[in-house]
Amino acid sequence: MTQAEINPTAHASGNAATDKFKAGRVSSDTSKERANAIYTDLLAAIAEVAHKHQVTYDEYRVLKQWMIDVGEYGEWPLWLDVFVEHEIEEINYDRHEYTGTKGSIEGPYYVENAPKLPAKCEMPMRDQDKAQTPLIFKGQVTDVDGNPLSGATLELWHADADGYYSQFAPNIPEWNLRGTIVTDEEGRYEIKTLQPAPYQIPADGPTGWFIDSYGGHPWRPAHLHLMVKHPGHRSITTQLYFKGGEWTDNDVATAVKPELLLDPQQDADGNNVVNYSFALDKED
Ligand code: DHB
Ligand code: FE
Repeated sequence: MTQAEINPTAHASGNAATDKFKAGRVSSDTSKERANAIYTDLLAAIAEVAHKHQVTYDEYRVLKQWMIDVGEYGEWPLWLDVFVEHEIEEINYDRHEYTGTKGSIEGPYYVENAPKLPAKCEMPMRDQDKAQTPLIFKGQVTDVDGNPLSGATLELWHADADGYYSQFAPNIPEWNLRGTIVTDEEGRYEIKTLQPAPYQIPADGPTGWFIDSYGGHPWRPAHLHLMVKHPGHRSITTQLYFKGGEWTDNDVATAVKPELLLDPQQDADGNNVVNYSFALDKED
């Protein structure tokens, strides 16, 4: 195996994220008037920063080169989801009067149609994943009044102990640590997975150079990604973190919220066990 196959590069995971994103061609019904207002303000904001810092020609050319590099490495999904998505998430969810479970960023590694799993299940994992501390994650999906939502789906995806996501790094089975769990008659689920580790965003490409250039760090706290859906209810895209875990106070992607911290307790068999329930708002 080459080093790149063992340790996926930013280029490889960036390109995989770019290819996945491109495959689901997106569009928006933004009017010309609204586009005009947004672009006018965006250019004004760039002009203001350039003037404020008296940006030099060398700095401008470095920016131009860096943007070309980000595209060539396929890293726009990585860079945007780390540095911009949290603002969009906040704008779109906090402006409504939602009272259900808080959302967080989707990030670049979601894949649709993960295999269905029963309410009580084990996530697809390799023997090497079983070396990690098992995590038993259980709870209930309800509406905001506490009525159970039977047949709700919880799409769960997370990284392995090395911080790699299946389908975005080589040599990992396609659906490793990905599944669509269906809640039982009482809206409950009990999922056995592994305790995830802190995650380092790929640091050897232009996103990494960007972070180095201002003396930042590339770490995200350990996290589980979830999308919770039930017909007639607002879908939630969120992440759950671990209380007291490294980087929870200093996430490079600024996506931690206090309501999203888990506090698992060890059971007699050495499993980390945690209860966390989801409340879904009615659809608008
Ligand atoms: C990135 C990776 C993640 O796993 C995540 O949750 C958010 C962002 C990234 O590499 O951009
Ligand atoms: Fe992630």
